[in-house]
Amino acid sequence: MVDLTINLGFIKLRNPIITASGTFGYGLEFSPFLDLREIGAIIVKGLYFNEREGNPPPRIFETPCGMLNSIGLQGIGVKKFAEEILPKLTDYGVPIIVNVCGEEDDEYARVVEFLSSKKGISCFELNISCPNVRKDGKCPAISPEWTYNIVKLVKQSTKKPVITKLSPNVTDITEIAISAEEAGTDGISLINTILGMAVDIETRKPRLGNVFGGLSGPAIKPIALRMVYQVVNTVKVPVIGIGGIFKGVDALEFLIVGAKAVQVGTANLIDPLAPLRILNEIKDFCEKKGITKIEDIIGTLKVGD
Ligand SMILES: Cc1cc2nc3c(=O)[nH]c(=O)nc-3n(C[C@H](O)[C@H](O)[C@H](O)COP(=O)(O)O)c2cc1C
Repeated sequence: MVDLTINLGFIKLRNPIITASGTFGYGLEFSPFLDLREIGAIIVKGLYFNEREGNPPPRIFETPCGMLNSIGLQGIGVKKFAEEILPKLTDYGVPIIVNVCGEEDDEYARVVEFLSSKKGISCFELNISCPNVRKDGKCPAISPEWTYNIVKLVKQSTKKPVITKLSPNVTDITEIAISAEEAGTDGISLINTILGMAVDIETRKPRLGNVFGGLSGPAIKPIALRMVYQVVNTVKVPVIGIGGIFKGVDALEFLIVGAKAVQVGTANLIDPLAPLRILNEIKDFCEKKGITKIEDIIGTLKVGD
């Protein structure tokens, strides 16, 4: 038997596998395929205060070893989520994390204020890093000051723990992580998608209606791993690794560099059983290696001799 429990300090998980926002709907859509209870935590699709349509189609384009998306955070808004989704999702007894979005800085605060009083939400993840909302691909997580201001504002607006989700579209990821920590974030998750584009040479048009989109999937894993490693060695708050996790070995790499948990994203779109398959592969690895506690593997990277 392997003890798979993870203590992030502000939340205890039955295992390190979390579903990444935007790739697992609001959770309920996946309940016919797997037992939601067995997942470490579910992060729901990003929520703005009001309902939102997202970007014009086409919004998805497959690339070698990954995909580009420009969904643009389509969503049902906080009221509908609280009334129609949350009560049903709470019944599964799995920790629920709400991914929070905002058009303006104070919208992040309004979303967490509204949802904080609702039963069943474990914590918030601040999506300050979506690259396909603004036409120029800019987002708060590209600036240390902008990151600091939003995290501070949100922390003043809720007593619940807050995870800040960072963008890889920056020169120095550690600078942004420090800002989030100084503003009081309880945890950091990274990476969101990498800003990209694709062109149809026949029509000479961009493949995405929004021109730019976010690259995800196995293609981005080495970048994600490098950034997680840098952030883990810079901040004290727990770090959650995201990016191209399709197999148990991928998740183990993130844990070894120091992530305390991981998120499974694009893999859910290909295999709805991915979170539990990855979990079983981790368990098998630990059993084979005689590791009795998953936490013993975290941050065990050996650099140098
Ligand atoms: C279709 C799609 C929708 C996404 N929507 C969100 C979202 O609503 N909020 C968010 O923070 N990240 C969103 N993401 C980013 C993922 O949560 C994740 O950070 C990213 O895809 C990298 O992980 P992966 O390579 O495992 O997919 C989305 C990604 C995809 C592919």
